[in-house]
Amino acid sequence: MVMILLALSLNVLASTPIPTPPLGISSTFAELKEPPTPERVELGRLLFFDKRLSADNTVSCATCHRPEHAFSEPTAVSSGIRNQKGNRKAPTFINGAWTIFPVFFWDGRADSLEAQAIGPMANPIEMGNTHEKVVGTVSGIKGYGPLFKAAFGAEIVDLNKIAKAISDYERTRLSGNSPWDQWKAGNEKAVSAEVKLGDQLFFGKAECNQCHLGQNFTDSRFHNLGIGWNPKTKKFADEGRVVISKSAEDTGAFKTPTVREAAKRAPYMHDGSIKSLEAVVQHYNKGGNKNPRLSPKLHPLKLKANEVSALVAFMVALTGEGYQDVAPTSFPQ
Ligand code: HEC
Ligand code: HEC
Repeated sequence: MVMILLALSLNVLASTPIPTPPLGISSTFAELKEPPTPERVELGRLLFFDKRLSADNTVSCATCHRPEHAFSEPTAVSSGIRNQKGNRKAPTFINGAWTIFPVFFWDGRADSLEAQAIGPMANPIEMGNTHEKVVGTVSGIKGYGPLFKAAFGAEIVDLNKIAKAISDYERTRLSGNSPWDQWKAGNEKAVSAEVKLGDQLFFGKAECNQCHLGQNFTDSRFHNLGIGWNPKTKKFADEGRVVISKSAEDTGAFKTPTVREAAKRAPYMHDGSIKSLEAVVQHYNKGGNKNPRLSPKLHPLKLKANEVSALVAFMVALTGEGYQDVAPTSFPQ
């Protein structure tokens, strides 16, 4: 009896609670088709940080999606196993439980977090493993058995369960309750006059909310800002969405990222080519990089210096809470 009670209470302690969405996020987990469960989140958190999922035990999801950078990273492009470089920046997935359209990756090639999560394990330059080996490795770690049982009712490990658990952990990484959210909820003192000017510009003269809209400041659509365009060769370094959609107007178009936690996520854009928030605003101020497929939504904004700073201050005021975490101190053995 005592043993059972002890086991039960340990189990409760070991479970990561499902967070309440912070101020500014009006969606709820209950509205999801399959809401995350504490057991799956706990398992997914361990898998997310576990380097044994990579071919040479050196890389975990968190190597590139670092909690202290809102699950993005401070480098322009990612380095995977044996330090191989990719050509895109690791995007954040904060508030990714709820999206206007279900599209993941910069080019939208995955339609769910689950579909996304299995990719990196077998990507030769990310984790460099095979799915069979990942399943074999996790099955071979005895300590994972009871966690799979708690999460899925049976100790048997398969790829879908791994993906599901990791995705549920990702779904609990949220961002809200920023000074901007507190101001919008009625606390006039939460932000400076400069932030309020930035807010007016973001939703007004600068028209940023044509694409950065909704609770997570993204329309989940694809736009060409001219990032990576080479005017000499008249080519994009990375053609983006067109490779998936095959429609020519998507050439050089990438998914709108959230601007929540932007201050934690420099450098910016799919290729990390813009170093600061001020330089991002200047990119929009000049109307983007001219190219044959430039989004018709962009045009020179004629922002004054104080307006550029105000837009930056506005984005900094979107630094909030709900995603913070640190790597687990021990892993199942
Ligand atoms: C070597 C670095 C690296 C590793 C390791 C890595 N990722 Fe990524 N991740 C990236 C990059 C780069 C992208 C963008 C790729 C693209 O858009 O083509 C990305 C995209 C994503 C996205 C899409 C976010 C969005 O909203 O579009 C999610 C979710 C994600 N990764 C989760 C994971 C998970 C889960 C793991 C571990 C199983 C993982 N990543 C391992 C670098 C990495
Ligand atoms: C036409 C749609 C559109 C408009 C208008 C727009 N953005 Fe963006 N924004 C995007 C897209 C798409 C990207 C990513 C582009 C890429 O990587 O090629 C982006 C990237 C960003 C980033 C970098 C985020 C990151 O994670 O790398 C910031 C910051 C940003 N925009 C802020 C703004 C501000 C401020 C304005 C108004 C001055 C604005 N945006 C107007 C679509 C738009």
